[in-house]
Amino acid sequence: MANDYVNIQVRPVSAALGAEIGGVDLKNVDDATFSEIRAAFHQYSVIFFRDQEMSPDQHIAFAERWSTINVNRFFKPLESHPRIAQVIKEPDQTDNIGSTWHTDHSYDQIPAMGSILYARDVPNVGGDTHFSSMYRAYEGLSSGMQAMLGGLKAWHSSRHAFGYVTNDLESRKDGRLSNPDLATQDSIHPVVIAHPDTGRKSLYVNGDFTVRFDGWTQEESQPLLDYLYEHGARPEYTCRFQWQKGSVAFWDNRATWHYASNDYHGQRREMHRITLDGVALSA
Ligand code: SIN
Repeated sequence: MANDYVNIQVRPVSAALGAEIGGVDLKNVDDATFSEIRAAFHQYSVIFFRDQEMSPDQHIAFAERWSTINVNRFFKPLESHPRIAQVIKEPDQTDNIGSTWHTDHSYDQIPAMGSILYARDVPNVGGDTHFSSMYRAYEGLSSGMQAMLGGLKAWHSSRHAFGYVTNDLESRKDGRLSNPDLATQDSIHPVVIAHPDTGRKSLYVNGDFTVRFDGWTQEESQPLLDYLYEHGARPEYTCRFQWQKGSVAFWDNRATWHYASNDYHGQRREMHRITLDGVALSA
């Protein structure tokens, strides 16, 4: 529980998931502190840090303590550090990136373990990110639904999300998203995974990338997928993070969804995202 931590302060932000971690400078984390941050990450699924001052190299160095970096194929990279993806919305832009519930890179055969998002510039108000616990979503289903989903796999794809069908999006035209020719990934994963680190069961479908259940048509799949998307976004499974410049959110892609609010037109928001390699998922 939160009181077992001795090197860091841990303040849960909702009953379902999320904790703000205090007493840490991410540029300078000793092994004992790192091991407590890891425990908090697994306990809370998304962890938040405030008032961090990290250069891109320091952001990369912290990320590499967790895993190798998984370079996003579609987001505009930071020119000086192409392993960092930029998530930007300028005052004159209307689209933002990530304003639907999703988990990152589920279209990959070996999906990303997590993402570390660092706020460089934030609006005065708005631009919050919401997270939802896919452990809680799974646990909130009936035993009958759990049993049925436990026997299913689903297909995930990047084609409809980042391919040529997105040519008309503002974020494609202005270059925040690119490389539609690389949107060729299709992958299959269990609908309910055993989390590779915690062993806890987690619902692993998401509205951005899941296209159908294996062995089912798209038409047969969509009503049940829609039910699961509505269920997974229930407020009691979620938390909401209000950013400040220097804030960091580090989420577990195998245990959460996230959703970036697009409610700050006319203001600028700039985030740096590093995504981390994961492992193959199993039921
Ligand atoms: C994302 O989906 O990775 C972006 C999240 C955010 O900008 O809050």
